Amino acid sequence: MGKRIGLLTGGGDAPGLNAVIRGAAYPLIRKGYEVLGFHLGWKGMLEKDFEVLTIEKIADIHRFGGTILGSSRTNVYKKENGVEIVKKNFKDIPIDALIAIGGDDTLGVAAKLFTDGVNVVGVPKTIDNDVNGTDYTFGFDTAINRVMETLDWLHTTTKAHRRVMVVEIMGRTAGWITLHGGIAGGAHLILIPEVPFDIDEVAAQVKEAHKKNGYCIVAVAEGAEEPKLKAHIMRSQEKDEFGHAQLWSGIGIGEVMARELNDRTGLETRALVLGHLQRGGNPSAFDRVLGTRFGVRAAECVMNEEWGKMVSLKGSDIGTVPLQDALAALKHVTNERYGTAKIFFG
Ligand code: F6P
Repeated sequence: MGKRIGLLTGGGDAPGLNAVIRGAAYPLIRKGYEVLGFHLGWKGMLEKDFEVLTIEKIADIHRFGGTILGSSRTNVYKKENGVEIVKKNFKDIPIDALIAIGGDDTLGVAAKLFTDGVNVVGVPKTIDNDVNGTDYTFGFDTAINRVMETLDWLHTTTKAHRRVMVVEIMGRTAGWITLHGGIAGGAHLILIPEVPFDIDEVAAQVKEAHKKNGYCIVAVAEGAEEPKLKAHIMRSQEKDEFGHAQLWSGIGIGEVMARELNDRTGLETRALVLGHLQRGGNPSAFDRVLGTRFGVRAAECVMNEEWGKMVSLKGSDIGTVPLQDALAALKHVTNERYGTAKIFFG
């Protein structure tokens, strides 16, 4: 029997997942491997829930968003005997290796399994672009294009009413989507978790920008914090299996800031939470190509038996880094990068 390789997509979906599935499975199937797609991330691995992938099934999936395998935020290490079950399922099914496509959570599980002796390869996915060891994750480009388009639309209506618009943007504790989306979409002010700010200073900046432009658009990251606003934020207290708060739920920084700016500036202010629109729909050309290249490189890792690696983009080249290095810390926006955006504030 030829070798059998498992493949799963875990965590929040990101446009480009299907391109990675196709990119990895195509060459493997052509070389005589059998590729099993596990459903709903690690859940499928724990429950032996999978399907055999064929060239027909994956032929043109790279053009579409979501993931044909489904995804979940299942943490193997939070399940009773989770690791033992995964290892047993590896033997029972059997599979020789696993390609795990996910963000820091999914890859964190993959890295631990690797140290426990499981043959794994990781592929970095997240719209947040906060995975270390790679210049970009796939999904990010599509997300910033969504933000850019939305800001383009918001300019006209906000200007028509001479308003202030506060747009809350995803990214958890990283400000990448807000920064790049905000630059591309011409936000007058960009506020991110990495750079502390004061609401009174923001109000003064908004007034200035409004005076100059006749309206003002503020892009704020969902994970941005301001001590004076903190008490007004009311989110769901529920956490996922990796301990993450639901930053986009309830009353977040966007709505609180809009209220405070309305009161502090006397300017009519509205809030918009972009939420899951940023992850929906079909991937950009960049993400289709990056996902494809990541997938093909992951397949090469399998063929060369390079375990415990994560595929990565450095400049314009695809390479690999040890999974452990990639997970040492999250990748955050630097002051230098923020400085470029600041030049255009107001
Ligand atoms: O990590 C990707 C992300 O979209 C974050 O930007 C956001 O905070 C979170 O996932 C939303 O999680 P969920 O899809 O579970 O609501």
